[in-house]
Amino acid sequence: MGRIAEALKKAEQERQARLADVVVDSAGGSTQPAQKPATTWPDDAREAGEPLPLREGMNEALVAYYDCSSLVSEQYRSLRTRLLSLNQYNEHAVLAVTSSVPAEGKTITAVNLAFTLGEIRHFNVLLVDADFRRSSLARVLNLPKSPGLAELLAGKANYTEVIQKTPVPNLHFIAAGNLNGRSAPELLGAVTARPVFRWFESQYNFTIVDTPPATTVTDAGVIGQHCSGVIMVIRMHRTPEPLTKRAVRLLQANNIPITGCVLVGRTERGAGYGYRYNYYRYYNYGADKTPR
Ligand SMILES: Nc1ncnc2c1ncn2[C@@H]1O[C@H](COP(=O)(O)OP(=O)(O)OP(=O)(O)O)[C@@H](O)[C@H]1O
Ligand SMILES: [Mg+2]
Repeated sequence: MGRIAEALKKAEQERQARLADVVVDSAGGSTQPAQKPATTWPDDAREAGEPLPLREGMNEALVAYYDCSSLVSEQYRSLRTRLLSLNQYNEHAVLAVTSSVPAEGKTITAVNLAFTLGEIRHFNVLLVDADFRRSSLARVLNLPKSPGLAELLAGKANYTEVIQKTPVPNLHFIAAGNLNGRSAPELLGAVTARPVFRWFESQYNFTIVDTPPATTVTDAGVIGQHCSGVIMVIRMHRTPEPLTKRAVRLLQANNIPITGCVLVGRTERGAGYGYRYNYYRYYNYGADKTPR
């Protein structure tokens, strides 16, 4: 067996072992790794720079998972580095990902950022779909759509029932779920919402929350109030500047810290490597916007 094949086999065995290590405490409703997670990155296949095969049904946009040595994945790591540098005291952060208008790349940014954070094995990371109107993370990950956040907020399901495993052991996922006749603002604004987000914060080093666009519905503003900060996605050559400004004003009016902006789809000469996700850059949006 060649070295690469051996490395891939070993990595898969280790991945299976780690998945088995994650236990769910159904009594308390919390999910914790059974043992202290490794502090190094043990995945030989990834270290060898080999692309991983996409799991059946997973979306090819999940580049941070299956092609971690690509330029695009490197750009997500730059974003991760900036986030970590803003969080010098290693406080747990709950970050919402939003944009001003639909289809700017919020979901793809959120999921790739979550996988990139999950590369740091001593972090527990949670990815939450809070876009009840156009939820798509379950489809991207090829995981069940419900029960999810909606059922959790409505008190119809507990943490154990909504938290799903992903192929990365220290990355968990909560789908949007089914509103069952309730409205999104009603559920997100309910008194049950704050303790739920605080629970995420207490259990996970990073919680990444996918949201709807900030200018079209109020959800992002409501979700942002439960979060440490918001990451604004801006699509080059597509997002109208006045709408970006409006989204920023709306978030600021709700006293929501804007942790930073991700500029998506920027083309830079030589940066493409034949892949359609060209360039990502993270900008600090103010001096004292460190996540709480
Ligand atoms: N960085 C990127 N570069 C190029 N295309 C991208 C990028 N990010 C996302 N896309 C593409 O843009 C489209 C919309 O992406 P995505 O679903 O992430 O947007 P969204 O802002 O979450 O949309 P919605 O408002 O519907 O939730 C998809 O076809 C996706 O493949
Ligand atoms: Mg989306």
